[in-house]
Amino acid sequence: MLDDGAFKAHQRAIWAQGDYHRVATSALWDLGPLLVAACGIGPGQRVLDVAAGTGNVAIRAAEAGAEVVASDLTPENFDAGRREATAHGVQLKWVVADAEALPFGDAEFDAVTSSAGAIFAPHHQMVADELVRVCRAGGTIGLVAIVPAGAAVDLFDIVTRYAQAPMLGEQSPLEWGRTEHVRELFGDRVESLSFERRAIEPGMLADIELLKAHHPVFVELYRGLAGDPDRTAALDREIDEMAKRSEGERVQLLLVVARKR
Ligand SMILES: C[S@@+](CC[C@H](N)C(=O)[O-])C[C@H]1O[C@@H](n2cnc3c(N)ncnc32)[C@H](O)[C@@H]1O
Repeated sequence: MLDDGAFKAHQRAIWAQGDYHRVATSALWDLGPLLVAACGIGPGQRVLDVAAGTGNVAIRAAEAGAEVVASDLTPENFDAGRREATAHGVQLKWVVADAEALPFGDAEFDAVTSSAGAIFAPHHQMVADELVRVCRAGGTIGLVAIVPAGAAVDLFDIVTRYAQAPMLGEQSPLEWGRTEHVRELFGDRVESLSFERRAIEPGMLADIELLKAHHPVFVELYRGLAGDPDRTAALDREIDEMAKRSEGERVQLLLVVARKR
């Protein structure tokens, strides 16, 4: 098992590979506005987006009139985010930050968001504690999580078995897609907690060849197996089988909105 520092360094190296912005804009770009609307983000609010990637949520929050900080473990993706923000005519602050140790003060933000992002940090309780800490009393915490169903379960299983060094923490990111888990993580520090299931079209996630070429996680899996044609062929087979099983399937997401007590 990697120690925490090595695990995080590896995570950063993974997400810096391929072309994450291309993946985000073709498969996940609808999630940004969805989360911004669900959290009621608007002018005058201070918003922190955690594990922001290239600004899916952050840019939309800025377009809604908020003052936004986009934070992520992987600054290699910030330039793509800056270009996207410029194209949308908005400015945000980009800050390198681990979701488990946010470099911000207590109660600094009116809203704290993370779309399929903070779920990848290995210690879920630390993440929840940090999201709550930096949000002001009465403020909003909004998350998009992935429900442990269908192809998502298969994919995380494949990643676990084929990764050369651990790519997922001991607690699966998919746990955030279970309402009971999220309830336990936030406990009585939130006065309300709402859940909404959403199913999205897989977009690029259904295009296996594009994923292999550009999705950071797939790029890392294949890079790790370079020089091992048998194992590469086995991975190819498993991914093809997964794609066939999930043909026509939509990706199940859990939208979480919490109000801090
Ligand atoms: C699937 S992407 C989601 C990015 C963005 N929220 C979006 O909707 O496009 C996952 C992101 O989580 C980031 N990440 C992984 N572990 C992290 C951690 N411990 N702290 C902060 N960000 C992390 C990665 O760098 C990557 O940008």
